[in-house]
Amino acid sequence: MDEGARPIGLRRIIQMNDVWATYGSGHALRGVSASIESGSNYAIVGRSGSGKSTLLRLMNGMLAPERGAVRVGYDVPDARGRRFRRTLRTIGYIPQNLGLVKNTTVLRNVLLGALPRLGAVQSALGRFPEGEVAEAERVLASVGLGGMGHRKAHALSGGERRRVAIARALMQHPTILLADEIVSELDPGTAREIMGLVSEAQRRTGLTAVMVHHDVSLALEYASRVAVISEGKKVLEIGVDGDSITDFQTGSQSTREAVEAYSRDA
Ligand SMILES: Nc1ncnc2c1ncn2[C@@H]1O[C@H](COP(=O)(O)OP(=O)(O)OP(=O)(O)O)[C@@H](O)[C@H]1O
Ligand SMILES: [Mg+2]
Repeated sequence: MDEGARPIGLRRIIQMNDVWATYGSGHALRGVSASIESGSNYAIVGRSGSGKSTLLRLMNGMLAPERGAVRVGYDVPDARGRRFRRTLRTIGYIPQNLGLVKNTTVLRNVLLGALPRLGAVQSALGRFPEGEVAEAERVLASVGLGGMGHRKAHALSGGERRRVAIARALMQHPTILLADEIVSELDPGTAREIMGLVSEAQRRTGLTAVMVHHDVSLALEYASRVAVISEGKKVLEIGVDGDSITDFQTGSQSTREAVEAYSRDA
């Protein structure tokens, strides 16, 4: 395991300070600050187009802030920068479209998670060491896809594809998991099973999970903090402890209805 890349001992593993972001016209984010505790499950909810995916893209350095500061571990995210590449290896990112290679087998998709830690030669040859293959098979079994490694990714159900994406991320031995709506449009039972896999990985490895959710109930059920984004601003950040929801920004008790009102699509 690539222990050297792990930002050990940092309590706040991700920090954002008054971050503004743009894709060219208008602002996708307008002054968001956030502080994410190591090992926690941090949820982001909000209407379509509010800026949720943009927040994740800032955390893995795919997008640079127009203004303000982002810090992950001890680094400033920059996906193209040499310095951040070591940190990036330990960030498991699951994009909204999952990013699977559809015409490739499930096993190979999972093995792609190991690529960042393999040498350039091995990567170019596309051959994986036996140990990695064995691990990929173990990870597949742990997400309930044992024996399905030979299937092509395009021939899977929505729930199965999400399991493959999680398996690929776990294969990376991540310190941080950034997951963009990976449980949306699933039946509640399957969504909970997928969330269970993430929780299990968190217990086992101390992983920090930052997850964008469409469903506020799932966010409240699994996260210890829920940030509500509206029109590029963080309008609410609540701490969740059992049934008690506290508005972290004002210290007052907040209601589930308030969270839901902000995140319901107009
Ligand atoms: N590549 C891009 N180029 C231009 N504008 C973009 C791009 N990606 C996002 N945007 C814009 O930035 C804003 C925030 O987008 P973002 O994808 O972060 O929203 P979101 O909250 O993830 O929405 P959804 O729930 O639909 O996934 C939107 O107004 C969107 O149109
Ligand atoms: Mg999105």
